[in-house]
Amino acid sequence: MKTVIYYFSGTGNTRKVVKEAARALNGLGWEADCRAIEEAEQVPETVAACGCIGIGYPVHAFNAPVSVLRFCEELPAQSEPKPFYIFKTSGEPLALNNISSAKLRAVLEKKNYVFRGEYHYVMPYNIIFRHTDEMAYRMWETAKRLIPLDCEELAAGKNAPEKKFPFGSALAWIMRMEHWGGRWNGKKYSVAENCIHCLRCVKECPTHNITYNDGKFAFGGACLMCMRCAFRCPENAIRIGLFNKWKVNGEYSFLPPSAEEEQRHKRYCKNAYEKYFAAARARVLANGGDFPDALLMPAEREAPSPARAAD
Ligand SMILES: Cc1cc2nc3c(=O)[nH]c(=O)nc-3n(C[C@H](O)[C@H](O)[C@H](O)COP(=O)(O)O)c2cc1C
Repeated sequence: MKTVIYYFSGTGNTRKVVKEAARALNGLGWEADCRAIEEAEQVPETVAACGCIGIGYPVHAFNAPVSVLRFCEELPAQSEPKPFYIFKTSGEPLALNNISSAKLRAVLEKKNYVFRGEYHYVMPYNIIFRHTDEMAYRMWETAKRLIPLDCEELAAGKNAPEKKFPFGSALAWIMRMEHWGGRWNGKKYSVAENCIHCLRCVKECPTHNITYNDGKFAFGGACLMCMRCAFRCPENAIRIGLFNKWKVNGEYSFLPPSAEEEQRHKRYCKNAYEKYFAAARARVLANGGDFPDALLMPAEREAPSPARAAD
């Protein structure tokens, strides 16, 4: 099956996930490729040549980012049903994140695209607070173990909707205020004095919203709040308006941590992620995969897992 996963990724998490998914699908005999929405060309022709298409996005305020919705609105209507599937990432395993695809699905289904499944991975936050590299490593290694299982289900034609959330569509509609709020807040971005004028932010902004003239930066009204500029700034010199206290700067290494780092939000992380990792471990082990101890939350490491207790 020929397929292209069209994706948006502000800071790289979703990109990693869709690349891994394409690799897994290729391993299953598909002909899978990924294209960033902001660079996608000849979309109608490519979609016509595909047996099905994928959409990849990071959850933004319990929705798909506005660029992804716009892309879906512009996709050509299909005369014959065309299957589609979704890969998404979010900073939390909250059930409320399940509503993020409601609008996108409605847009595509109106155009005769047929929903085949959606697959969701927790990846490190790019806003709110910075995870430790250990946590980022654990999230990515977990996603890498889940993606092949999900791709097997996708390739087998198993329909995989996420659980519905009560009043999900209404809540998602309210939360789409973020699209407008992001554009408004984007104009409030500024650059601190330690800026070295490398212009990485100008070059990499997905909407070309940052301009530089006569030594001065200007932030326009097309900000997606994707965080790419602030996250990748080598000098941590970008202020992100009202949300500056939540800024996260610097790429995660995703490598095994070399030294024990202080987890700043220990209790919060335990409550937020323990169940996600436990469920992932159970699923991976049940499918004959490996799930090393290093990927478990410290509290789980102390308690024997059903599989290890049986050893
Ligand atoms: C503006 C904004 C809103 C976000 N909203 C949510 C959210 O509603 N729920 C959630 O779990 N994560 C949320 N996140 C976290 C991202 O979904 C998560 O870090 C994602 O993996 C980032 O992917 P990317 O690197 O491909 O952009 C938000 C991030 C941003 C920048």
